Amino acid sequence: MIDSVRIVAMTPAHIDLLMPFERGMFGPEAWTRGGYRDELADHRHRTYLVAESDDAALLGWAGVRVVADEAEVLTVGVVPGARRTGLARRLLAGLLDAAAAKGAKDVYLEVRVDNVAARSLYRSEGFDDVGVRRGYYEHGRVDAVVMQLKLAP
Ligand SMILES: CC(C)(COP(=O)(O)OP(=O)(O)OC[C@H]1O[C@@H](n2cnc3c(N)ncnc32)[C@H](O)[C@@H]1OP(=O)(O)O)[C@@H](O)C(=O)NCCC(=O)NCCS
Repeated sequence: MIDSVRIVAMTPAHIDLLMPFERGMFGPEAWTRGGYRDELADHRHRTYLVAESDDAALLGWAGVRVVADEAEVLTVGVVPGARRTGLARRLLAGLLDAAAAKGAKDVYLEVRVDNVAARSLYRSEGFDDVGVRRGYYEHGRVDAVVMQLKLAP
């Protein structure tokens, strides 16, 4: 399946396709349609990618923001039926390429302390834990781990 999946730039048309998954995957941190529209409008700083099958089904999406030489991974999600096939890894690689092309030297992200899958993904792609934001999620109940990857000296 993975070979027939392409990674392409997210367009506004993808927002309706991802919204049915957004709340189930991100719970209280889920973004709205309007939030995604605003994100996509900021071409200067942000890059959003989607993974889609050859029949155009949406399988995953991800976004990064670059300001000066610092990038932040804003979201990465893969729909439940397409997980563990390497799509998040491919999406993340696409984000890191885009961030490097925009001049980023460091990439940061926040991830829930209890998100074993995501923390393991980021660790396996070279990110290190560099801090904790206490009570960052769920109205103060869940901590975020801050992770960093150095792209360039
Ligand atoms: C986290 C998430 C994006 C991973 O997507 P995925 O496409 O299944 O990940 P990949 O197939 O590319 O896996 C890459 C690596 O991540 C790690 N990983 C992924 N899922 C894992 C799991 N359930 N348990 C442990 N490690 C996991 C593994 O190291 C894996 O490599 P391997 O398959 O060679 O062992 C996906 O589970 C998801 O969308 N979760 C809900 C949304 C979310 O939490 N997003 C991250 C917010 S910071």
